[in-house]
Amino acid sequence: MLTNDQLDRWDRENFFHPSTHLAQHARGVSPSRVIRTASGVHIEDRDGNRLLDGFAGLYCVNVGYGRPEIAEAIAEQAKELAYYHAYVGHGTEASITLAQMVLERAPKGMSKVYFGLGGSDANETNIKLVWYYNNILGRPEKKKIISRWRGYHGSGLMTGSLTGLELFHKKFDLPLVQVKHTIAPDYFRRDDLPMSEAEFVAHCASELEAQILSEGPDTVAAFIGEPVLGTGGIVPPPEGYWPAIQAVLDKYDILLIADEVVTGFGRLGSMFGSDHYGIRPDLITIAKGLTSAYAPLSGSIVGDRMWKVLEQGTDENGAIGHGWTYSAHPIGAAAGVANLKLIDSLGLIDNAASVGAYLNEAMKAALGDHPNVGDIRGEGMLCAVEFVEDRADRRFFDPARKIGPQVSAALLSQDKVIGRAMPQGDILGFAPPFCLTREEADLIVGATQRAVETVLG
Ligand SMILES: Cc1ncc(COP(=O)(O)O)c(C=O)c1O
Repeated sequence: MLTNDQLDRWDRENFFHPSTHLAQHARGVSPSRVIRTASGVHIEDRDGNRLLDGFAGLYCVNVGYGRPEIAEAIAEQAKELAYYHAYVGHGTEASITLAQMVLERAPKGMSKVYFGLGGSDANETNIKLVWYYNNILGRPEKKKIISRWRGYHGSGLMTGSLTGLELFHKKFDLPLVQVKHTIAPDYFRRDDLPMSEAEFVAHCASELEAQILSEGPDTVAAFIGEPVLGTGGIVPPPEGYWPAIQAVLDKYDILLIADEVVTGFGRLGSMFGSDHYGIRPDLITIAKGLTSAYAPLSGSIVGDRMWKVLEQGTDENGAIGHGWTYSAHPIGAAAGVANLKLIDSLGLIDNAASVGAYLNEAMKAALGDHPNVGDIRGEGMLCAVEFVEDRADRRFFDPARKIGPQVSAALLSQDKVIGRAMPQGDILGFAPPFCLTREEADLIVGATQRAVETVLG
C-alpha cells in the first residue's frame, strides 16, 4: 500500500483538481485530503479522521454513504452487462426502468427523459434542444437564454455562461453572446433595503420583462433557474417569485428550464422543486440525487409541448444529431433504480423535510442573535448562514478577510464537521444526506456556533 507521503507527492505532481488553486496545491500550500471510506453521514480520510459530511459531498450523496443496496445493484449490472449504448433505439432493462421511474415522480406534463452523465452536460443538452425546437418552429432568431446572477448551471462553455458567478467567467472569455443574466432572487442582498419582499418580487419580474423587451421577445428562447439558488448562496425564492416569473415567460412565449440538479428527488422535502413552488417547466435538469452520486448519471426531462416539436423535427430532418457514448450508461441507470427505490422504502424525503426543518430552526435559535449573522435561511435539507460586518445596515465584510472560509475551516478543525464556504459572499452552507438524525443536526449546529465564536467572537 502507498504511504501517505507517496500519495501526497503523486497528488501534487500529477493530479489536476477541479475548482482548486492550482499553484498553491502544486506547491503544497493548500490542504490535500485523501478520502478512504465512508458510511452514513460520515467520511473518513487516510489519517483516520472521521468527518461529519454536512454537505453530502457536493450536495449529492442524498441517501448517505455505504448503502449496500446500491453497491450490489452496480456490481450485478457490471457483471451482467457493463455497457451497451443507447443509440438508434437501443436500451437496457435498467435505463428503460429508470426512465419510467423518473417520469412517475416528475411533475405533470413531462414526456420523456434523455440521460447524460452530469449536470453540466444535461444543461448543454437542454440548450441544444431549445435551439432545435425554435429552428423546427421556424423561429431561427429566438435563441437567447436568460439566466440569473448567482445561478449555477455547470462549468462547460454554454453552462459556464449560464452560471452567474464571476469566477466561472473570468479569463475564460465567457459568457457566450447568447446568454444574458437577470437579477438574483436574493431578497437579503437586494439593492434597495427598505423594499418589502412583495415589492422585491415585483421588481424581479419587471426587471426580467424589461430585459426581454430590450433584447426583443422574438430573440429570447428560454429562461433557466434553480428552484432554490444553490451554489450562489443557498437562497430559497421570496414568496410568490416563481408565479411572477412564470407569468412573464408565458406572456412572451419563452420556455422555462428548471435546473433541479440539487433540488430533484427530495432535497427540499418534496420530490421536485417544481412541484414545491408550483413551477411549470418545459425542461427539468436532473443529476446528483438521481443516483445519490453512486455512479455518474444525469438527465433532461422533456415536457409535452417540446417533445411534439422534437418528434416533428426528426420527421423532417432524420435522427436527432445528439448523444454521448455513455448516454444512459447501464451502471448509472442500475444505481439510479436502486437509489430511487431506497429513497421510497426508507421514507428519506419525509426525513429530509422534518430533520431539515429541525436543523434550520436549531440554527436560528443558536445563531439568530449573533451580531455578525445577517441571515439564516433554508428549505428542506438545505441551510445557510450568511455573515455581515454590521447587521443594522447589512454591511458585508471585505471579501479579502475570507470570513466564510475561516468559519468553515474552524468547523472542520475544531469539530470535524464539513460545511461549505459558498462563493461570492461570506456564506456557510449545509446540505447533509437525507438520513441525518436530529442528534447529528444538533452536532452541526453546536459546531457551527463554536466556529463562529472562534472567528468572530
Ligand atoms: C443546479 C446545478 N446545475 C448544474 C450543476 C452542474 O453539475 P455537474 O457538476 O454534475 O456538471 C450543478 C453542480 O453543482 C448544480 O448545482
